[in-house]
Amino acid sequence: MSMKFPFFRTKKVTDDSFKVEETNIPRHVAIIMDGNGRWAKKRGLPRIAGHKEGMNVVKEIVKAATYYKVEILTLYAFSTENWKRPKSEVEFLMKLPKEFLHTYLPELIEKNVRIDTIGEFDGLPIHTKEAIQNAKEQTKDNDGLLLNFALNYGSRFEIMRAIKQVYTDIEETELTIDQLDEEIFSEYLYTQGLSDPDLLIRTSGEQRLSNFLLWQLAYAEFWFTDVLWPDFSEEIFKKALHDYQQRKRRYGGI
Ligand code: IPE
Ligand code: IPE
Ligand code: MG
Repeated sequence: MSMKFPFFRTKKVTDDSFKVEETNIPRHVAIIMDGNGRWAKKRGLPRIAGHKEGMNVVKEIVKAATYYKVEILTLYAFSTENWKRPKSEVEFLMKLPKEFLHTYLPELIEKNVRIDTIGEFDGLPIHTKEAIQNAKEQTKDNDGLLLNFALNYGSRFEIMRAIKQVYTDIEETELTIDQLDEEIFSEYLYTQGLSDPDLLIRTSGEQRLSNFLLWQLAYAEFWFTDVLWPDFSEEIFKKALHDYQQRKRRYGGI
């Protein structure tokens, strides 16, 4: 059985011959939304114009993910390394969550979306934290798509932090080193309780992880496109889902 997109705005119709089966939808899709700066530069615009445009694409992909009944959508929005950027760009990026939520939260609530984050939340500016905390509270009982923003996220930091917490718990609780296994260790990561991503998408032509979900992506299917994030669309997302469905996941078996 195939599904069609009857109602989405089509920004850039590509090949419509590929189909997405209702069965075998990736439960968890993770996206490295890259290329906003280059998109703006190509147009002679400041980099922040690309970030702004990228924000609207987020909404579009959330809608598509909801339509296809993806359970978890994890979006890499700001890495621990992105603090290296010029102050003005960082400040703009830190204002985006509030703007995104101001524009789209009512619709996300209506669509039963739950909002959460991974990363060092306490390291974000207060105004950013407040806007997100409010959205988390307002959507905490929703059981539709989990829209999970990786904000101030770095995978190596996440793993180090987990190791430190495991160490503390071994010293202070019943936990013993012999009990520690992959399943228990996973519970110490920001992604506690979430299934690992099945599909990783990266836009903009770069083929690297940039410190994203190193542990969790161990068996994910990777899908790369040269398209810059502000040009990404539900049609391209559909193509990624289609390609994912052609893959044979073996997990080391035969
Ligand atoms: C991705 O786009 C957004 C963030 C990293 C916040 P970039 O800002 O990295 O855009 P490019 O890669 O420089 O084009
Ligand atoms: C990764 O993109 C981080 C996000 C998309 C938020 P970057 O643009 O920061 O990654 P590099 O610098 O190309 O590796
Ligand atoms: Mg980039």
